Order: sequence, then C-alpha cells, then structure tokens
Amino acid sequence: MMRVVRMVMLAGVMVAGVMSMPSRAPRQSLISEILTRLISSGSPTLHPHVQDTGSLGREAGYLVESHTVTTEDGYLLTLHHLPPYANPSRRRYLHLRESETDPPVRARWNASDSGEGPALSPATDTGETEVPTTPRYMDQHASNSSSSGKVVFLQHGLMGSSDNWNTNTKQDSLAYLLSDAGYDVWMGNFRGNIYSRRHMNLTHKDPRFWKFSYDEMARYDLPAMLDYVLEETGARRLHYLGHSMGTTVFFALMSSQPEYQQRVASMVALAPVATVTNIVSPIKYLAPLVNELQLVLRLLGNDQELMTNRLLISLWEPYRVCGSHAFCENLQFLITGFDPSRADQEMVPVILSHNPAGASTQTLFHFAQGFTSGRFQHFDWGRESNLERYGQVEPPVYNVTNINVPITMFWSLNDWLIGEKDVHRLEEELPHVEACYKVSNPIFSHLDFLWATDARSLVYEKVFDILDEAINKY
Ligand SMILES: *[C@@H]1O[C@H](CO)[C@@H](O)[C@H](O)[C@H]1NC(C)=O
Ligand SMILES: *[C@@H]1O[C@H](CO)[C@@H](O)[C@H](O)[C@H]1NC(C)=O
Ligand SMILES: *[C@@H]1O[C@H](CO)[C@@H](O)[C@H](O)[C@H]1NC(C)=O
Ligand SMILES: *[C@@H]1O[C@H](CO)[C@@H](O)[C@H](O)[C@H]1NC(C)=O
Repeated sequence: MMRVVRMVMLAGVMVAGVMSMPSRAPRQSLISEILTRLISSGSPTLHPHVQDTGSLGREAGYLVESHTVTTEDGYLLTLHHLPPYANPSRRRYLHLRESETDPPVRARWNASDSGEGPALSPATDTGETEVPTTPRYMDQHASNSSSSGKVVFLQHGLMGSSDNWNTNTKQDSLAYLLSDAGYDVWMGNFRGNIYSRRHMNLTHKDPRFWKFSYDEMARYDLPAMLDYVLEETGARRLHYLGHSMGTTVFFALMSSQPEYQQRVASMVALAPVATVTNIVSPIKYLAPLVNELQLVLRLLGNDQELMTNRLLISLWEPYRVCGSHAFCENLQFLITGFDPSRADQEMVPVILSHNPAGASTQTLFHFAQGFTSGRFQHFDWGRESNLERYGQVEPPVYNVTNINVPITMFWSLNDWLIGEKDVHRLEEELPHVEACYKVSNPIFSHLDFLWATDARSLVYEKVFDILDEAINKY
C-alpha cells in the first residue's frame, strides 16, 4: 500500500515537472516511457541466454578468470581477466616452446571449469548474486608477457559490465581480438552492476548500498582495480580503454588523483563523456526533475531503494516494447539511441539478456545534473550538503586540463550521449590528445562501439594500430 502511495507521489512530481516544460509533446512520451520503466512492477524475467563473462568466454574457447577487488569503502568488485597464456592461438604470440606452455594451460582449464560454478543469473534477487572467484594465480609466462607492457584494461560504461567486451560475435569482440593480438586483457566492473553487487557490510537491498554516482567509482572503484591489476601483473603501467562512463570515471580519477596518471601509459576513449551540454539522450529530460526527485526521495526517508530496485527490475525486462522504435526495447538503448538492428542478429538475444547490467539512480541523476550545469563536476547534493562535503556551495569541477596521459578519442555523430561541441571542448581542454577520430559511418551510435557489425572495421582495427604504437612509444 505504502509503495503504491509512493509511486503515485513520484509520478505526480514527475508529471508536474513535465508539464512545466515547454514543447512538451515529444518529451512527454519519452518521459512517460522512462517513468513506466522506473516504476513498473513485476518480477524480472530470466532469459535462457544469460551467461556470465566467464562462461561466454569459455564457450568461445577462452579462459576467463574472475578476481575480486575490495574497495576502501567496502564494495567487492569483480575483475575479469583473459590471460594471454590461455589464448587459443597463444603459440603465435608468446614465442614459447609448445612443450613449455601446454601442460600448465591444460591443468588450469580444468581448475577453472570446476571452480567457476554455474552460470550467473543476474536476475535472481537473492542479495547474494556472486561470481565465484578463481584462485589468484601468478603465471610466469603471463607475468613475462605483462611486464613487456601489453596489459590492457577495458572499462565499461553507463549500465554496462565486463561482458560488453565479449558479447559481439566471437570474431568481432574486442576482448577476444585483443587477447588474440597477445594482450593481457583485464576488464573492470563498477559497483552496482551484476558482477559488483556485493559489499562487506551491506546487501544490495540496502538503500545505502546504492548511494553512489560516478564520483565514488572514480574515488574508490577505478583506483582499486588499477592497483590490483598492476600488482597482479607486475607491470609498471597499463593501457586503458574506456567506453562511455568508463571514460568519464577515468577523467574524474586522473584529475582528482593525478598520481594515477603515472600508472597509465596511454588511453583510448570510445564515446568519451565529460560535459553533456548538447546531447540528444532523454537523460536531459530528467534534468529539470532531478531536484524534485531528490526531494521526494529525501521526504520518503532516504528511499533510494524505491527508485533503484524499480529501475533494476525494469532493466531486466528486455522484451517490452515502446512504440515502434527498436531501441525502446531496453532502457539503456533508449537512453543512448542504440538500434539493435546494427548488431549481429544472433547476438541480439544475448545482448538484451545482459543489458542494462545495473546502475544506481544517483548515477543517472549525476549525468542529468551535468546537462543542467554544463560542467563536468562532482555530484550536487544541494547547497548545505555541498558545504559539508566539499567545503563549498557549488560542487567542485573535475579539471581535465591537467591530465597528461596520451589520449586517442573516437566519437560518432549518431551518439545520443555525446554532442559534437562537448567532444571538441574535451579535445581542447585535454593537453595530450593524440588524435580525435569521428567514426565515418553517420549512423554509428553510442553502443555501436560494442556491438555493431562494423565496429571492428571502423574502430577496433585503428585501436590495434594505436595500441601497437603506444606500446613502442610509452
Ligand atoms: C564493516 O563493518 C565493520 C564492523 O562494524 C567495520 O569495522 C568496518 O569499518 C565496516 N566496513 C565498511 C567498509 O564500512
Ligand atoms: C583435464 O581434462 C582433461 C580432459 O577433460 C583430462 O583428460 C585431464 O585428465 C584433466 N586434467 C586434470 C588435471 O584434471
Ligand atoms: C620469464 O622471466 C623469467 C625471469 O626473467 C625467466 O627466468 C623465465 O624464463 C621467463 N619465462 C618465459 C616463459 O619466458
Ligand atoms: C583548471 O586548471 C588550470 C591549470 O591549473 C586552471 O588554469 C584552470 O582555471 C582550471 N579550470 C577550472 C575550471 O578550474
């Protein structure tokens, strides 16, 4: 009963916000769609295709290790690792005698098979969703190939997860392609997604669990994951490749904790996001409502769960359709403008069953705030709380002008989360941009970087050249 009252209140506030906006016709339908997804009830459906990054990898013939990293504030994050020594075509790259590599690899395949347990079921809401961890293992061959500078860290974006990198076809998935090219591939998972929903002291049903935005990912998650990978591989520096919010968090970390710049040799930014002033994404229609929504949440007694669980549940209902647009099948597609017909059709059910992979409401709000403020800055808690937290009324800005890591950016015209002006502003402010490529296909969109059938030819091929060069240069 209470729940119904809350939903009605929330809907009321949102509708009031919508009514107060000019030219409301197209906005209203989008908002009502988002609203429906936010507050719709029903149990999540588990799709038979749902598999975790590890089992997907094994199916494709790759070993995927899971590692757990604990952040300073108690979140347990899963890192996925494609070790080069276990790559199906490793002999071509490791320059090792076959007799040297074969026995340990085979032994480890078996160990992993028994250790990984059943496929992950992201939709089960037990509070214990967990990816079993393979024991930490230092392989001499792996460590040699790592210290030769070929460690690549892949970081997913908003509502994504590590399997963003291996849910294109086997021939076109960036994680496999990099592994085939001899790279030691590590994939991060930010707090709140299906692989990183555990905490030392909180269950993910606790509203306090969801009190985070990309500020916390930059302050805790990314540093913990980068430190872990460097320690595990023995590498001095790694190469970072981020997509979407994976770039946002990178920029936030590197500007607020500049010592981390020394740990990154180079960065590739796919669909980089910092300021979001001229975007198409319906996120901007949430912007005028953020303050009201936060107020409601506060009045209801810190009820982050209402939004968050609703959001998460609706995120896992991939087959509901809004209107006639293909991208309406999925909140993440709706927010980024992804058209599933751009992906390999055999992969679409897999992609739909994996995405969105979870996010906090506050993270969405943070992006919406960025649209209003026009700045790339910390989360705005309101004047008083800002004073308490930041010692100033306005949230501090993330100043990217001091990031000296060499960066190559890729962006595309049909990307709803990225405005051309924002990209050029970023390009101007970052002091060490090696190149900024506009993807030649004009319909290439935000998630096409992960799943489009032409992602490899239009983007990845160039990424390999960039990484090759960076490895020789830095
Ligand atoms: C978890 O709880 C323990 C015991 O109360 C406390 O010492 C620790 O600081 C907590 N950790 C976090 C990250 O909150
Ligand atoms: C690993 O699996 C193979 C084939 O399944 C088997 O022949 C071999 O004995 C196993 N090795 C170990 C160490 O379990
Ligand atoms: C790895 O490096 C160590 C120390 O440099 C060396 O002894 C070992 O033979 C190397 N292993 C391979 C497989 O190259
Ligand atoms: C960012 O840092 C540069 C150099 O330290 C400074 O000149 C500039 O004013 C800063 N920008 C903002 C928005 O604080």
